Parts: sequence; structure tokens; C-alpha cells
Amino acid sequence: MPQLVAPDARHLPSFIAALKEGYSRDTLRAETPESIALVEADPMGFLKSQLAPPTTVILPDGSMGQAVPHTVLWWTEGDAFLGSVHVRHGLNEFLAQVGGHVGYAMRPSVHGQGHASAALAAGLAWTRANLPLERVLLTVSSENRASIRVIEKNGGVFDKAIEHIWRPGEIALHYWIEL
Ligand SMILES: CC(C)(COP(=O)(O)OP(=O)(O)OC[C@H]1O[C@@H](n2cnc3c(N)ncnc32)[C@H](O)[C@@H]1OP(=O)(O)O)[C@@H](O)C(=O)NCCC(=O)NCCS
Repeated sequence: MPQLVAPDARHLPSFIAALKEGYSRDTLRAETPESIALVEADPMGFLKSQLAPPTTVILPDGSMGQAVPHTVLWWTEGDAFLGSVHVRHGLNEFLAQVGGHVGYAMRPSVHGQGHASAALAAGLAWTRANLPLERVLLTVSSENRASIRVIEKNGGVFDKAIEHIWRPGEIALHYWIEL
């Protein structure tokens, strides 16, 4: 049965295979051969960075920003990496518009099997147990029908639609989930 766990060395080979398959750590930025090669060159260093995420972040426009404290969790089954859930402990001016508290992505080969729905449910349970948040913001592109469904299945209540701050012409939908 799949589980949401802290990143672990046993899942690294499968994680790297997922990157090569098309899984991306950042839903706003696709992986490149170079970004994957960096993980492959120092998998244990990469693992450390997942367990204690850096305090700075490269924003989608390429500039450097201050990272909000966050926790990376992996959705796994046995040694297999299936996807990830990222929980931000708070919002900043950017995340309050696009990004929200919780983000998730599943590797392409397991799409359509209910994994994101289950992983988000587990991520919400983790958040409830570990953070003093009463509700969480999830943002999603209006074109991402599968993700909208995942949010709605997890109790997401639509709040508003705004212009996407990183992708001109796109609309970002805001949903809140009460914890
Ligand atoms: C979006 C994503 C997380 C969905 O993962 P998944 O494991 O396939 O999702 P699930 O199987 O749990 O559920 C998908 C739901 O969307 C539905 N769905 C899939 N494609 C759809 C579409 N084009 N239109 C409407 N609904 C759709 C499925 O039927 C399912 O709903 P159901 O359970 O009622 O049948 C996955 O496609 C992904 O990782 N995409 C890239 C990263 C990303 O977009 N992350 C979310 C950012 S907000």
C-alpha cells in the first residue's frame, strides 16, 4: 500500500527514473538533462537538500527569492517512488497568489490510478498533525482538469480565479481546504 514518507535513500534510484520519465519537482519548471544530471551526480547531497530544504529558492522567472519553510514528502510503494507532496508552512506574497500551501505531482507512468488523490489526502493528514494551520490554500491552473478534480475530491472549496503571476494569459484558481 502506498505511503507518504520522508525522502529516503532506498527510493533514490526510482526517483531518478521518475525524473527521466517526465516527473518534475517543480510544476512550473520542467526538468532538463542538466537538472537530472545534477541529482545523479550527487544523490546523497540531493537527498540532504530534500530533508532540509534550502532557505533560498529560484523563482519561476529565474530570480532568487527567500524560501518559505517547507517539507518535502514522497509518495512511495516499497522501493518505488510514485510522486511527491510539498507542504509549505506558510505563504509569502508569491505563494499567496500561485503555489499555495500544498503542491503535488505524480510520475507519468502512474497517472490516472488515484495516486494524487490519495497522496494529497495523506499530505493533508500530515499537515493537520504537524503544523498549526487551520486551512490550506491550493492553487491550480484552470486548464489542469485532473488536478482540479484531485482538489475537489479532497474537500477543496473554490475561492477565486486570478491571473497567473508566472504564466501570462493563464488563470490560476484558488481553493481552500479546512483542516
Ligand atoms: C495532476 C496530477 C497530480 C493528477 O495525478 P493522478 O494520480 O493522475 O490523479 P488521480 O488519479 O488521483 O485523479 C485524477 C482525477 O482527475 C480526473 N481527470 C483526469 N484527467 C482529467 C481531465 N482531462 N478532465 C477532467 N478530469 C480528469 C480523473 O478521472 C480523476 O478523477 P476521478 O477519481 O473522479 O475519476 C498529475 O497529472 C500530475 O502529476 N501532473 C503534473 C503536476 C501537476 O500538475 N501537479 C498539480 C499542480 S496544481
